[in-house]
Amino acid sequence: MKRVACNDDLRMRARRRVPRMFFDYVDGGAWTESTYRANSSDLSAIRLKQRVAVDVSQRTARTTLLGQSTRLPLAMSPTGLTGMFWPNGEVLAMQACEAFGIPYTLSTVSIASIEDLARVATKPFWFQLYVIRDRDFIERLIRRAEQAGIDTLVLTLDLQMSGQRNKDIRNGLSSPPKPTLRNLADLALHPAWCLAMARHRNMRFGNLYGHVDGMKNRKALSEWTNEQFDPTLSWTDVRRIRDRWKGKLVLKGILAPEDAQTALTIDADALVVSNHGGRQLDGAPSTISALPDIVAEVGGRTTVLIDGGFTSGQDIFKALALGANGVMMGRALLYGLGAGAQAGVAAALEMIRNELEVTMGLCGVSRIEEIGPHNLYKAAERG
Ligand SMILES: Cc1cc2nc3c(=O)[nH]c(=O)nc-3n(C[C@H](O)[C@H](O)[C@H](O)COP(=O)(O)O)c2cc1C
Repeated sequence: MKRVACNDDLRMRARRRVPRMFFDYVDGGAWTESTYRANSSDLSAIRLKQRVAVDVSQRTARTTLLGQSTRLPLAMSPTGLTGMFWPNGEVLAMQACEAFGIPYTLSTVSIASIEDLARVATKPFWFQLYVIRDRDFIERLIRRAEQAGIDTLVLTLDLQMSGQRNKDIRNGLSSPPKPTLRNLADLALHPAWCLAMARHRNMRFGNLYGHVDGMKNRKALSEWTNEQFDPTLSWTDVRRIRDRWKGKLVLKGILAPEDAQTALTIDADALVVSNHGGRQLDGAPSTISALPDIVAEVGGRTTVLIDGGFTSGQDIFKALALGANGVMMGRALLYGLGAGAQAGVAAALEMIRNELEVTMGLCGVSRIEEIGPHNLYKAAERG
């Protein structure tokens, strides 16, 4: 993509192309957005150790994640409503991730269904599960995931109720948008989005619509979430899902070492240190600041992934140096999607790969497995 140098350029381009209601849905955090901001500002504060005169001519960011060979230590985080952010968004993002060589995670609250993606996927993608009150629906959803050949289930634990995002309230977020004067004016200002939507037309929650009672299209997502999502969700339920699901299980939304300790007893294949991108508990710490204690608690007994505020290859490098095995990204890849559909996601990934491999080189590292605490300054050293 021309004149795109960094992820923020993609963000600015997406902001111009995506109707405000859907751009803000992606771009916002809960309440004061303090956790949302801390995710990225704490990453920026970490200082890398520059090293010289090391042969780094053969460096590569290729590695494995959960036994799968990947081009980067990266997977795309599950993001709801992606087919409204950009029409057919889940299919386009999945295809970009697949072509590039990283796993894509489809959200329970996606517009495209598991079956829509399975029809066009050439490799297994990951599927994210929310536990809702209707447990028969959960069983049917798990069965649908199995039938689609999905091998990795990402169970999200930090949305037992919906955090409040002020921007969504002010915008009256709904899918499809309500035909108010304000929304119609907003759509008129985004003709490329409207044209693409006219081609695809799909505005329903594909995994839910027709499969779950009480799912009405125009209802605010947060309203429906609060009605249907299950605040009784417990570790016993998590254990039950572990016993039921034969594939790989990833537990997403771990932020406290105490929860990491319990997660270890579930025999999960990985956990994701996540605060839902600052969209749930405002006031929670950034994920990068929570990472070292969780890594220490886990002590290598399971794979540790992290997301929240990651937008560059440098950010990935920092997480690996602090002990993560891999990173997930939500918004950074969505900005690519809004900026240029499938090619935009591909451009975002290519930029991230380049940033990571250049950073590795300037830190004197050739392989992902060599990255460690020695690549960072300790807080006292950086003054
Ligand atoms: C627009 C949007 C929708 C999201 N929807 C979901 C979802 O459906 N399921 C889920 O587990 N996490 C969801 N998340 C959280 C992401 O999976 C991830 O934890 C977060 O985006 C990471 O932060 P980042 O966007 O700064 O990379 C969503 C995040 C965003 C930005």
